Amino acid sequence: MGAPTVINVDLGERSYDIVIGSGLLKQAHAYLNTCLKGKRVAIITDENVSTLHLKTLEDALGGWGLSLETIILPAGERQKSFDVLQNVLDRLLNAKFSRSDTLIAFGGGVIGDLTGFAASILKRGCGFIQIPTTLLAQVDSSVGGKTAINTPAGKNLVGAFYQPSLVLTDTDMLATLPNRQLKAGYAEILKYGLINDREFFDWLDEYGTKILAGDKVAQSHAIAKSCQAKAAIVREDEREQGVRALLNLGHTFGHALEAKGGYSDLLLHGEAISAGMLMAFEYGREIGICDGQDVDRLRAHLEKLKMPVLNTLDVDIISDPDHLFDFMMQDKKNMDTNMTLILAREIGESYIEPNADQTSVKEFLRRACARTGK
Ligand code: GLY
Repeated sequence: MGAPTVINVDLGERSYDIVIGSGLLKQAHAYLNTCLKGKRVAIITDENVSTLHLKTLEDALGGWGLSLETIILPAGERQKSFDVLQNVLDRLLNAKFSRSDTLIAFGGGVIGDLTGFAASILKRGCGFIQIPTTLLAQVDSSVGGKTAINTPAGKNLVGAFYQPSLVLTDTDMLATLPNRQLKAGYAEILKYGLINDREFFDWLDEYGTKILAGDKVAQSHAIAKSCQAKAAIVREDEREQGVRALLNLGHTFGHALEAKGGYSDLLLHGEAISAGMLMAFEYGREIGICDGQDVDRLRAHLEKLKMPVLNTLDVDIISDPDHLFDFMMQDKKNMDTNMTLILAREIGESYIEPNADQTSVKEFLRRACARTGK
């Protein structure tokens, strides 16, 4: 592969680069160097990533006079909790981390969200770098500064906007990623086509199989395209006062599915988003705002790639549609008692509905869950 692709997230004094390429982890120090202000660096990672890649990163950062602290957490969404956050902060404070020191999120979306939130509150904000290792983190969660933990009331309900000073994306990480994780990340790639880029959806319809089969050229193109799309939206609306909410297409449905699954291994975030985006399109058809042919096209695309949809999910997740509705009412995008949904008129044309009709959403959920016949 050639020179890395560099995409700038232009946010004034909070601007940073996303560097995407092959073999970057081995050269991490060269890329991170200018972002490291203090001598202390914490690598926060999970057990899966540490087994496969931690030594490469530690070797790359060793020998430069840095004091390295490594925190290895179990894998999984349940780590995004108050307890784990407190534990991580205690360890960093015991190790005397200061504002000028740096936390590196070395993992997928869970590690990125948790580490970013810890960085945002440690002494009111310390250095923060993202080295995303999953497809989902590389195309979405490592970019844009959203950080959070989950609570029993719902997903990502406690958090902060806190931008990293660099996103270092080594595409070689994907070679060891289980197919289930690749599919979870693919859902977020597909999202960019669905929200405002029909041509990209057409490309994905042709090359999606290759991305999931591990084709490096197709993967790199999809990652760069996704990061460009996200950087443009974040530049326009860093704190989600408007257009950034489009990046949540299908997420209100998806987050409810995840919450119902107890953030367990039953359902990964990206799997919930795959099912949730189709639900948003199908709900749109039901209320007469979404082109029916495009709904069928999206379903066919997801089924061709064996992506999760409502009727492939575990029965416990879809057995109580009213409970799903309650979780949807807790969504962060909701204002007062209104429910905000991101819907689409067609593939590539999404919009924000700030006051969705709650009765029809509830009825849709009941019908959609019953249709699965589980
Ligand atoms: N993942 C949606 C966003 O970053 O806004």
